[in-house]
Amino acid sequence: MSESDVQEGHRFPAPEQLAAQANVGADVYAEAERDRLAFWESAARRLSWAQEWDQVLDWSNPPFAKWFVGGKLNIAYNCVDRHVEDGHGEQVAYHWEGEPGDTRTITYAQLKDEVCKAANALLELGVQAGDRVAVYMPMIPEAVVAMLACARIGAVHMVVFGGFSSDALASRITDSGAVVVVTSDGGYRRGAPSALKPAVDEAVARTDSVRNVLVVRRTEQDVEWTEGRDLWWHDVVDRQSTEHTPEAFDAEHPLYIMYTSGTTAKPKGILHTSGGYLTQVAYSHWASFDLKPDTDVFWTSADIGWVTGHSYIVYGPLANRATSIMYEGTPETPHRGRWFEIIEKYGVTILYTAPTVIRTFMKWGEDVPAGFDLSSLRVLGSVGEPINPEAWLWYHKNIGGGRCPIVDTWWQTETGAHMINPLPGVTDLKPGSAQTPFPGISAKVVDDEGNELGDDTTGLLVLTEPWPSMLRTIWGDDDRYVDTYWSRFGTEVYFAGDGAKKDDDGDIWLLGRVDDVMNVSGHRISTTEVESSLVAHPAVAEAAVVGASDPTTGQGIVAFVILRGSAEDSGDELVQTLRTHVARDIGPIAKPRQIMVVQELPKTRSGKIMRRLLRDIAENRELGDVTTLTDSSVMNLIKDKLPANS
Ligand code: WTA
Repeated sequence: MSESDVQEGHRFPAPEQLAAQANVGADVYAEAERDRLAFWESAARRLSWAQEWDQVLDWSNPPFAKWFVGGKLNIAYNCVDRHVEDGHGEQVAYHWEGEPGDTRTITYAQLKDEVCKAANALLELGVQAGDRVAVYMPMIPEAVVAMLACARIGAVHMVVFGGFSSDALASRITDSGAVVVVTSDGGYRRGAPSALKPAVDEAVARTDSVRNVLVVRRTEQDVEWTEGRDLWWHDVVDRQSTEHTPEAFDAEHPLYIMYTSGTTAKPKGILHTSGGYLTQVAYSHWASFDLKPDTDVFWTSADIGWVTGHSYIVYGPLANRATSIMYEGTPETPHRGRWFEIIEKYGVTILYTAPTVIRTFMKWGEDVPAGFDLSSLRVLGSVGEPINPEAWLWYHKNIGGGRCPIVDTWWQTETGAHMINPLPGVTDLKPGSAQTPFPGISAKVVDDEGNELGDDTTGLLVLTEPWPSMLRTIWGDDDRYVDTYWSRFGTEVYFAGDGAKKDDDGDIWLLGRVDDVMNVSGHRISTTEVESSLVAHPAVAEAAVVGASDPTTGQGIVAFVILRGSAEDSGDELVQTLRTHVARDIGPIAKPRQIMVVQELPKTRSGKIMRRLLRDIAENRELGDVTTLTDSSVMNLIKDKLPANS
C-alpha cells in the first residue's frame, strides 16, 4: 500500500471478525437519524441515575443547552461504586507504570476506597459542592483519585497540565477561584525528578482564593512548606474512612473546568457538566473503540491535564468498567521501545495516541516496534490533529500489524467527546480523513455565508445541533461563550474554528484551525498568548507569531520580533533568552521553535499584522498577495534578514 493508492481512494474495510462482534453495527446511524434525542436517551440509560430526567434536551434558550433535565446522578458512583456492587471489585481499573519502572495495580474496589477517603478529606478541608479545586499533578493515580473525589462531592475540578508555568497556574486559579490545590512534590520526566510544588508555591502566593495545598509525595524532593496551608496527602487522606455515601447531583451540575487557548491572550475556562458529558463520553468510548470491558486493555497515551485525559483516561473508561494503562513518563525513557514494552507487558488491545507521536516513532524507525510482540493490539486511535496518510499507513503497518482499524477522532476540549470519526467495525477506512459525524451528531462544511458545501470545496466546520457533552459556557463569561462559538452563523450553529472539506463520498477531511490558534504536538496554543509573552520582555517592542508546518510536531511556533531601541541586537544569545522567557512564562510547550529579529512587520492599511505573509516566509513559500500591505518593501527587509536555510 503506497501513498498513491491512498490518493486513489483505496479504502480499508472493517476487519470481518471485528465487525461480526462489534459493539455497534451500521444500523446505529439510521437509528440516531430516526430520532436523535431517543438515541441519546438510550445512551444515557447505560449509566445509573438516582432520578430519571423529564426532558432529554432543553434548547429553548440557545446556545445555553440543558440535557437530561431533572435527572440526578453521581458521577463517581457511575465510574466506580456500581462496578464494585456488580461484582467487579477485583477487576483492575488501572495498571500504572511509573517512569522509573515502579508499578501499581489498582482494582475497582481499591479505587472506590481511595476515592471515598479523598472525598472525606476534601470535606474535612471544608470543600463544598460547587467549590473549585485545582489539580496540578504528574501522571500518578492520585490525580484520578482527586478528580473523582471532587466529582463525588460535587466540587468542580480544574486540572492544569503539569507542564504549565506558575503564571499559567496562577491565572487559572484566579479565574476559577479555586479554594484547594492538589499537587505533588514532583514527577519523573526523562529519567529525572521534575519538581511541581515550587510552581504551586509561586502561583498561590499571587492569588487569594486558595486555603489549602494538598501534596502527594512522589519523588521525595525537598519542598518548601507553608504551615497551616500545606498538608501532606498521606497525613490527611490515609486516615479517612473508606465509607462515603455519594449524593446525587443534578444532571447539569458543573463537573469540571478545563482552560484552553483561544484567539486572545486570556485562556477560556471551558465548563462541562455531569449527565450529558458522562453519557456521550462513555458511549463514544464504547462505540468508537469497540471496548469490551471483560477482555480489553485500553491505553490512552495523553496526559490527564488535557481533555483527552479527562474523557478517555478517566471518565469514559471508568464509566465503561475498562481496564486501562496509565503511564507517567515520556516515550523514550529509558529507551525508545518503552511504549512497545508496555503494550507487550500488559497485552494492550486498544491504543489511542496522537499523530505527533506516530511521526516521532517513524523517525526512530520501524525496527523499534518490530522488536516487541504487539499482537495483542486490535484497535488503534488517533487524536489531536489531522493524521497525514503517511503516518496513518505507518501506524497501521508497523504498530497495528496491518490488522487493526485506525479510528481518527476529531473533537475538541469544547465538544467533550468524539464528534467525527469512523467506527471500527462499520466504516471502510480512508487514511487521513475523520470521515463521518458520530451517530447523533450533525456536522456540516459551510462557506462564509453558512451555505453547505460539498465536492471537495474547502470551507468551515460547523455543528448544527446541540450534543450531550457540549460545553455549557465559558466560566464566568457567558458573552464570550456566545461570541466565540455561536455568533458567526447565529445562535444555533456552533462554529468549531476548523477548516474542512467534504469529498465526493461525503467524507469529512479536517484541515486545521482557521483562527489564530496553533496546534503544536496536538496542543492548542494561541499566537496572541505567545505574542503577549514576548512583548512582556523588556527587549521586545513588537512581536508576531505564526504556526509554521513542522514534519514532527504538526506546527512549530515561529516568532518575528522587533527589538526596542535600547536593546542591542545581540543575536543568538538574545534569541535563546527570549525562547526561555516564553517557556518560563507559559510552559515549555509554548517555546518558539524559531525567533527572527526583524526591523518591521508586514501590516495592512488598517494596522493588522499580515500573519499569512509571515507564515509564507516561515514555511519557505513564495510570498502570497502583498497588495494590501502598507509597504511591500518590508517583506524584502524581513527576507534579507533570514538565515539561508529558513
Ligand atoms: C484539532 C483535543 C483533525 C482541531 C481533543 C481541533 C484535530 C483542536 C483532530 C482541538 C483530528 C483534534 N483531526 N484535527 N482527529 N483532533 N484536532 O481542544 O483543530 O486540545 O479544533 O482537543 O485540535 O484541540 P483540543
